[in-house]
Amino acid sequence: MCKFFSELKRREVIRVAIAYLLVAGVLVAIWTPHIAVAQQPPTVLVTGSSRGMGLELTKQYAAKGWKVIATCRTPITADALNVLAEEYSRIAIEELDVTDHAEIEALAKRYADVPIDVLINNAGIFGPVAMQTLEELDYDTFVDVMAVNVYGPLKMSQSFADNVVASEQKKIVTITSGLGSMALTDKNGGYYFYRISKAGANIVGRALAADLRERGVLIGLFNPGIVETEFGRDTGYAGLRLKPDVAVGALIGLIDELDAENAATMFNYDGTRMPW
Ligand SMILES: NC(=O)c1ccc[n+]([C@@H]2O[C@H](COP(=O)([O-])OP(=O)(O)OC[C@H]3O[C@@H](n4cnc5c(N)ncnc54)[C@H](OP(=O)(O)O)[C@@H]3O)[C@@H](O)[C@H]2O)c1
Repeated sequence: MCKFFSELKRREVIRVAIAYLLVAGVLVAIWTPHIAVAQQPPTVLVTGSSRGMGLELTKQYAAKGWKVIATCRTPITADALNVLAEEYSRIAIEELDVTDHAEIEALAKRYADVPIDVLINNAGIFGPVAMQTLEELDYDTFVDVMAVNVYGPLKMSQSFADNVVASEQKKIVTITSGLGSMALTDKNGGYYFYRISKAGANIVGRALAADLRERGVLIGLFNPGIVETEFGRDTGYAGLRLKPDVAVGALIGLIDELDAENAATMFNYDGTRMPW
């Protein structure tokens, strides 16, 4: 009799243990995909990453552990970027000219299933300074500057909007310029095409914010200051010059802090609001 009861107890213990194991198995099955998703690093796509601030953005995001889709016009000659990609396996270099809309569409198609947390429209040109003075306005230069600085960010944002919406952070950032501010254009003129293009990039950002707000997308418009890149040197623009690592460190801080309260506003690299 006693043996019978102890056998019953043993079976009961085994039944309870199996039940616990089954419940634990179900919980692990439910939570494992979530844990895997939570551990995925965020992804940033940078345009114009061959040099200057685009290269530095790639470097600093990779060092933070992000996946970086580093796009540039000519990967084969982008030596510094290639060296960086050897150091950080999370950098994927992709060929992309932001004036080539078919190329943008093809890249977006290849990345259709990839959430992009931050899209950075960084690629930009100033255009020859001498070709955009009141004395000499070269309209072919105007077309070139607009194609890179305005149509580029617009086409990129349109083509990758779904990737951004599918991500955790949902941010589209355009590197703008104080030269695109009407309020700040009261003392000196010149630089017509570049000014117009950055004012255009700003209004693109505002319209994107209105169109994509309901889908949770935040738009950042950031002025990096005058930065010691080839670009910064070529313009001959006077003022405090920042090293690219300092300017980019500040920009990444602003991108991290981008939220519904401060989105679609023009900010200087130092965190001060800039007038339109
Ligand atoms: N530096 C400054 O003082 C300053 C100030 C205010 C705003 N910004 C803005 O900051 C951004 C970055 O400037 P930066 O100083 O880093 O300039 P940068 O050193 O001259 O680099 C510009 C980058 O844009 C790329 N690019 C040019 N045309 C392109 C195109 N059609 N498609 C794809 N990429 C293209 C260049 O690629 P390649 O190597 O192929 O030419 C290069 O990687 C620009 O939007 C600029 O307007 C700069």
